[in-house]
Amino acid sequence: MTDTRRKFLRRVGALLSGGVAAGVFLEGCASGGPTVYRYDPAGNIIDLFLSWYPELYKTGGAVELHLTGTESSIVVVRVAIDRFTAVSPVCQHQGCKVALKENLFKCPCHGSRYGLDGALIAGPAEKPLVSYRTEFRETSLRIFLS
Ligand code: FES
Repeated sequence: MTDTRRKFLRRVGALLSGGVAAGVFLEGCASGGPTVYRYDPAGNIIDLFLSWYPELYKTGGAVELHLTGTESSIVVVRVAIDRFTAVSPVCQHQGCKVALKENLFKCPCHGSRYGLDGALIAGPAEKPLVSYRTEFRETSLRIFLS
């Protein structure tokens, strides 16, 4: 780990709420390169500062967060000035990864389509995407994983 990365992680740790010393890290692919955020597994909460993800400044912007050490990710979309959605990009049909296109999550495997909130629009999937509650706080976003 480079000194720059170490310093960044210390800074992030100081900024985040939760106060849990041990944690898992999230990586998001923002335009400025990967960024790392702490994820509190005890509280199942992710706190993001929007300034870290410029993509989320405007309505329609999206970012995928990868939970390090797992195969899981969460796609966060700003759907309105004060509203965000957070969903798992795993299709509920056979597990392919959906892609965000034209304000829908579309599955490349068999064509299922989902709304930005994960609601099922068209099968063959029979269930919505797994979605997570979000809470917007002017400059930050809280995602509740349970
Ligand atoms: Fe997505 Fe089949 S895996 S539609």
